[in-house]
Amino acid sequence: MEVIIKANAEEASREATAFLVRQCRNKPDSVLGLATGSTPVGLYCQLVALVQNGQLDLSQVTTFNLDEYCGLAADHPQSYAAFMRRHLFDHIRVRAWHIPDGLACDIPLHCAQYEADIAKAGGIDLQLLGLGGNGHIGFNEPGSSLQSRTRLKMLNAHTVAANARFFDLPDEVPRRVLTMGVGTILEARHCLVLATGLQKADAVAGMVEGPLCADLPASALQWHPHCTLIVDEEAASRLKRQEEYRWAYNNKPAWQHPG
Ligand code: F6R
Repeated sequence: MEVIIKANAEEASREATAFLVRQCRNKPDSVLGLATGSTPVGLYCQLVALVQNGQLDLSQVTTFNLDEYCGLAADHPQSYAAFMRRHLFDHIRVRAWHIPDGLACDIPLHCAQYEADIAKAGGIDLQLLGLGGNGHIGFNEPGSSLQSRTRLKMLNAHTVAANARFFDLPDEVPRRVLTMGVGTILEARHCLVLATGLQKADAVAGMVEGPLCADLPASALQWHPHCTLIVDEEAASRLKRQEEYRWAYNNKPAWQHPG
């Protein structure tokens, strides 16, 4: 796993944007996996600016989002579908974007179809991921099977509390979600994790330097052949091998840098 430590959240977000831009310039019909939450908002803003300035063309790109709340219609302001429209798809054109349907009647069938759609698109080239403070990726909470596929999951109390900031009342946070599984995520050809802030420092340390275990689902990315983690100083603060990561990054040949 490559660990890139940037001075602050803004620089971390800029670096992550550069990876996405390089991916889409190298392969204009890329299939991207996308995330919601606070972490990627700056990145989406930069992508929109690049497209609107004519510096980037995403019109052939297909996207698949990681997850959606169960019980929220796509036009509910706190649904992840609405989030994606607000931050990205109302502003730029892509070939097709997909997000699990929070109102699906036959959930197992819908989840199997979501997996089939990813496969039909050729699989995910680059999967963008945020990191839960409890180590979740997508909504694969601690204890999730490391081979899991897209399915219905129950959020735990930590995540409900963390996401309450987006709702008027904590009780409005849906408890059930549809999420790509850890196994689904691990099939992406490149996983790009962005994590910033002190509240992510323990999860980052566990993900990179802890044991690979279901207790911290993001640690499954240690098993991935091509994973890049971009963090700011705060999120990196509990990593033991910080100096090694910085050394490797500073000695990386220019041709390997995305920007
Ligand atoms: C969102 C998702 C979650 C978030 C994670 C971090 O689609 O899959 O795993 O990435 O909860 O959320 P923020 O960025 O709000 O800290």
